[in-house]
Amino acid sequence: MYNEDDIDLDQIDLTKGPPADETACQYYFIAKARGYIQALAREAGRPMTFHIGTFGCQMNARDSEKLMGILTAMGYVCADTEEADLVVYNTCTVRENANRKVYGRLGRLKRLKKNNPYMRIALCGCMTQESQVVDRLRESYRFVDLVFGTHNIFQFPQLVCRMLESDRMVVEVWEGTDKIVEDLPAQRKYPFKSGVNIMYGCDNFCSYCIVPYVRGRERSRGPQAILDEIQSLVDDGVVEVMLLGQNVNSYGKTLAQHVSFAELLAQVAEIPGLRRVRFMTSHPKDLSDDLIQVMASSDKICRHLHLPVQSGSTRILEKMHRRYTKESYLQLTDKIKKAMPDIALTTDIIVGFPGETEEDFQHTLDVVRQVRYSSAFTFQYSKRTGTPAAVMEGQVPPEIVQDRFDRLLETVQKIAQEECARWEGTTGQVLAEQVDRQDASLLTGRLGNDRLVHFPGDPGMIGRILDVRLRESKGFYYMGEMI
Ligand code: 5AD
Ligand code: SF4
Repeated sequence: MYNEDDIDLDQIDLTKGPPADETACQYYFIAKARGYIQALAREAGRPMTFHIGTFGCQMNARDSEKLMGILTAMGYVCADTEEADLVVYNTCTVRENANRKVYGRLGRLKRLKKNNPYMRIALCGCMTQESQVVDRLRESYRFVDLVFGTHNIFQFPQLVCRMLESDRMVVEVWEGTDKIVEDLPAQRKYPFKSGVNIMYGCDNFCSYCIVPYVRGRERSRGPQAILDEIQSLVDDGVVEVMLLGQNVNSYGKTLAQHVSFAELLAQVAEIPGLRRVRFMTSHPKDLSDDLIQVMASSDKICRHLHLPVQSGSTRILEKMHRRYTKESYLQLTDKIKKAMPDIALTTDIIVGFPGETEEDFQHTLDVVRQVRYSSAFTFQYSKRTGTPAAVMEGQVPPEIVQDRFDRLLETVQKIAQEECARWEGTTGQVLAEQVDRQDASLLTGRLGNDRLVHFPGDPGMIGRILDVRLRESKGFYYMGEMI
């Protein structure tokens, strides 16, 4: 296993070609880029800076930490704003809105670039996996310098070199990959917690979802590589990890030696020094009794399950290709609540899927009322070209979608507030994460169930897990006090 602290970039011989081993090859390009950056900084008379804009999910957030680690190793300095010498957008394309945002932001970057001759712009993430996006960039956004995709993100060092060597747009997007390249540098946003990828891609092909097309086939990392990574994070001060995958419950299916997610989770929870484990996202169809049992029997595993339901109507669920029914979903949530009465369940819900009737929508509201989510991400269906749902009949008119969305949000929020109030007056363990943004005498931290708590404390406590009494529920968060 590589350890970035053990790698001396000065020892890499740049007079030879890049090594064959993929990780070593990328370190070679980090060393090479470092030379370019040093020369540019000398010429400009100031350090070269970078800024990363991250859109979308936890996976992208983790990928951005890797990009940040690589740029820092190259000698770029992180800037707070987009007035930087390299701006990277790590994009999301799960809904059309996400794409629109990126195009809008690119327009602004174009103006900044006019004032800074050193400025370069790079685009990666899910959006760039779509060929119509790349065509549009080539046609109308020619000031973009580098475009790469999700499958070859590990090539970032090599691509930065190509970008710095070229004055034309460099485009390198792969259709897919079976590669998992381990052990490149990463820089964590928080010193005390980290995401850890356990698998990439998705094989579920829900009929509305673009993810399987842009993130590719499901691939699991080997359990030992995951455990080693977590151990080295713990050695580096991390107390909480979030295991990341589009569908963590099918972890291990692609490995030569089958290991289930429940088995992996049990092993992760055994790592000495690690205080908390979370994971995301769970697909209801694959959530096993073993997993419930492992969760229930470990107090290191957070009492939080994100279990996207998407719709409460069995008829719509079938058209969505979700492979469970309203009844089986409710049975599952009942079983989970029986095993862990203090569990917080959260979910994703889509309204306005093609063919959705008022009756279907009532089933969704009914599920929300029965499960009583502690929070829910609610989305209006967005047509994604290339997915089966995009060509289904019965696309729902926007005003009906909006009306259902409003009613859903109202129900979700009312129940979420009631669920929050339920725990008022109790004491919980809170990981202190940062100084409160509004009041510097307070800290903001997170309970195991993912709710935020604001409480008096000093910055020296950040990164510690503290006992906090939840003095007052404010609907979606608490005001608390340490005990
Ligand atoms: N339209 C609306 N929401 C979508 N999601 C995925 N694809 C779409 C789409 N086409 C939502 C799902 C998923 C979450 C990450 O995004 O609810 O769980
Ligand atoms: Fe998309 Fe379904 Fe895969 Fe989630 S499980 S990423 S919704 S295809």
